[in-house]
Amino acid sequence: MKAHRAAILRFADDRSAVYEEDGLLVVGPDAQGHPVVRAVGPYRELIDRYPGVVVTHHPGRILAPGFVDLHIHCPQTDVIGSPAEGLLPWLENYTFPHESRFHDGDYAAEVAGFFLDELLRHGVTTALAFATSHPASVDALFAQARQRQMRFITGKVLQDRFSPDGVRDQTEQSLIDTEDLIRRWHGVDRLGYAITPRFAPTSTPAQLRGAGELAARYPEVWVQSHVAENKAEIAWARELFPESRSYLGTYADFGLMRERAIYAHCIHFDDDDRALMRETGAAAAVSPTSNLFLGSGFFDYEGADRVGYRYGLASDVGGGTSFSPFHTMLAAYYVGREGQTKPGLSLSPQQLWWQHTAGAALALGLGGVAGAPAIGNLQPGSEADFVLLNPKATPLLARKTAQARNLDELLFALIVLGDDRLIEQTFVAGQGALTRA
Ligand code: GUN
Ligand code: ZN
Repeated sequence: MKAHRAAILRFADDRSAVYEEDGLLVVGPDAQGHPVVRAVGPYRELIDRYPGVVVTHHPGRILAPGFVDLHIHCPQTDVIGSPAEGLLPWLENYTFPHESRFHDGDYAAEVAGFFLDELLRHGVTTALAFATSHPASVDALFAQARQRQMRFITGKVLQDRFSPDGVRDQTEQSLIDTEDLIRRWHGVDRLGYAITPRFAPTSTPAQLRGAGELAARYPEVWVQSHVAENKAEIAWARELFPESRSYLGTYADFGLMRERAIYAHCIHFDDDDRALMRETGAAAAVSPTSNLFLGSGFFDYEGADRVGYRYGLASDVGGGTSFSPFHTMLAAYYVGREGQTKPGLSLSPQQLWWQHTAGAALALGLGGVAGAPAIGNLQPGSEADFVLLNPKATPLLARKTAQARNLDELLFALIVLGDDRLIEQTFVAGQGALTRA
């Protein structure tokens, strides 16, 4: 058993943030021996209940849940900042040529290691990530995530048409490879598999049907894809699947909408699409830096909340511009302010933080319900993935956070001014994964 004394931020079931100025987080093994949060609360109330426990004191630091990135592309680490008129030319000119390099396992392993360390350096302890269409890229990413003991989900991209040589896969083989990877990796330590059709336009109906069959056969496995990101993409998807009610409806028609299915973007939706998300239990990965960078549009928060479906925040690197959850939360705030059909919405800093931690975990089905592990909230029983923030990491942060009169002011200062310098340490499964010198 180990304990950490610091200011502690965590999230209750009702989504509210709980903040302890002088808190204690006790980490110890659960019944299976996995390191979890055994207790959390005010230092003074808890300390006497754990006599002899080794306490590490972090004065002036804030301990908070590790961030959860709901959608990111490992092989696009080097694609960040590639400008294009919009999504489709960006894919063709930058992304596909780059991803074609990942047939090489050594190259894939080098990028995977850098990518995971970069996530941890930014305080992200869990991600739902795209690999490429090459099984070697998936093996590399899982192996590297396993070494780091991360709760991490990825999968082989399915794209058997309208894709150039080098990334295009073959229908039958792609489904065989997917099932083989599920069997080899899903549930190994903290790893999970995601069936990953890139997006409807680059899969044949046969590939989507096969993916849907696998999604039914392996209900614990995740599904991830993209939808309704860009107007040209939507027109293309509608042309290719005219019999579906909408672009999103195409995924439903192939059995790809269910709990644990995460769709990136979900921008250009109508209320029937939103109801389909709600009824199937699918969730949106809201990717504001990507949407702003590629000029895709704005996620409709009001529509999502009115109809009531799940969503969480994502970087979408390399369409997205940053690994930093602080940059993503700030971009989401801008979208909430300015990008709404119903103006006047203002996302609170607690809501934004929740969307990138406990909310994203819930969207993944990792909220601790029905025997599933819990991450992202630091409640007792949840897995011990957390960060230590130094609110004095820069002169301006030190000045601004010292003036915060309440939790909202403190969290807003961190969101608006924060970046990787705020993350002093990242703990994965109770162990220090990264320490800033
Ligand atoms: N749609 C299909 N593939 C991609 C991708 O790699 N990035 C984004 N942002 N959208 C996509
Ligand atoms: Zn994406």
